[in-house]
Amino acid sequence: MADKQHTDPERMEKIVSLCKRKGFIFQSAELYGGLNGCWDYGPLGAEVKRNLKDYWWRKNVQERDDIVGLDGSILTHQAVLTASGHVGGFSDPMVDCRHCKGRFRADNLDGMQCLKKPSCTPGEGADCDLTEAKEFNLMFQTTMGASADENDPNAIAYLRPETAQSIFTQFKNVLDTSRMKLPFGIAQIGKAFRNEINPRNFTFRSREFEQMEVEYFCHPDDGMKLTDDWLEARLTFYEEIGLPREKLHVLDVPEKDRAHYSKKTYDIEFDFPFGCQELEGVAYRTDYDLSKHQEAGGKSLEYFNEQTKEKFVPHVVEPSAGCDRTVLALICEAYDEEEVTDAKGKTDTRTVMRFHPRVAPVKAAIFPLLKKNEDQVRVCREIQRELECYMTVFYDESGAVGRRYRRQDENGTPFCITVDFDTIGENGEELKDTVTFRHRDSMEQERLPISELLPRLLKEIR
Ligand code: GAP
Repeated sequence: MADKQHTDPERMEKIVSLCKRKGFIFQSAELYGGLNGCWDYGPLGAEVKRNLKDYWWRKNVQERDDIVGLDGSILTHQAVLTASGHVGGFSDPMVDCRHCKGRFRADNLDGMQCLKKPSCTPGEGADCDLTEAKEFNLMFQTTMGASADENDPNAIAYLRPETAQSIFTQFKNVLDTSRMKLPFGIAQIGKAFRNEINPRNFTFRSREFEQMEVEYFCHPDDGMKLTDDWLEARLTFYEEIGLPREKLHVLDVPEKDRAHYSKKTYDIEFDFPFGCQELEGVAYRTDYDLSKHQEAGGKSLEYFNEQTKEKFVPHVVEPSAGCDRTVLALICEAYDEEEVTDAKGKTDTRTVMRFHPRVAPVKAAIFPLLKKNEDQVRVCREIQRELECYMTVFYDESGAVGRRYRRQDENGTPFCITVDFDTIGENGEELKDTVTFRHRDSMEQERLPISELLPRLLKEIR
């Protein structure tokens, strides 16, 4: 059972500070005081996020012949979100405090702070004066078209609150064009937007975020079993990107907490330093969405099984993962500090981001031992050119080699390649064209021929 109360704010503070210092994640519009609930990924963060999305796509589309992809629009027709129930019902309960003027999510007051007395949970301080809870719709609304008038209902569109809806509304087009047979899935990665009342825990609860979703369509008889199968597949995925099984927890969501149309929902949770929190939901949504769009759109979304001659609205199982939350979990899991002792017996603390090589932002750093040695630099650049069309690598010649290693440890680079005097044949033929290959986690080094670098790295990072 997960310990939801266990938190480590000090560790979280160090992680947030490293994210800024090393260029993983910055506050959006920081120059202007910040845009609350929005984040920009810096050079290293952008690589981790891309690697995660690529691996998810590979596992859920490329390596599956029963799943195809979609890239739907973010701006969404209001009729779509009316039919899905979002226009009327996608809201959280909100309370205002008449005293501190704070606005809080009413069902999530624990962990919130009174604006005047931060040691108090809203409602618990002597002066707190909370209003009755009222529902606050989380969708961002906009008006479309140059001549659009704010009061013209036909001009209203929304930024999508989940990627799922375009999958449902394009179900028939995908079915007809790809000629898939049930069970089959449609996968999508993309931005979603929710005007969260209290964005918090760094990127964990944001107003703009990315989702990675599969809508897996099936016969009604298969829904429950497929939900269990998807849960296992998703747990395996998290292990494959470096989140250990013992830090992943499955919550079998009780009926009273499930969406009314869901027959089964599992939440996959992770032990973040701010507590055990949801990474992904695996939900059996029955035929709710397709039926609603069929009814409102007036066109049949039924599936015809040519063998059994059965006609029905497919049911759907939905593994829906948060991309930003997973990146945050990867960063939190990777962060480590260890005491190391150098050859002279001096100890200090090494900060190391122990990313799995699959998601590490830079796969290998390439150093000349001496930047003034033209032959070493030339060989480094040749190695760089060979590797960079397959993966992100980084050339660095500044400072002592030990310091360069440490910088890469903090970036999470799993391998460092150093070109030295042996490489260029100054110490004989035996070691010519070999380099040192240093492992980030153990700090051990091995000697490898340059010709083995590419196949070795490709094997390590796949
Ligand atoms: N289509 C189903 C759906 O959207 P959800 O549980 O509301 O279900 C799925 O969202 C996932 O999206 C969550 O498990 C979480 O990882 C991510 N997510 C939801 N709201 C988020 C937010 N405000 N910030 C970051 N990620 C969020």
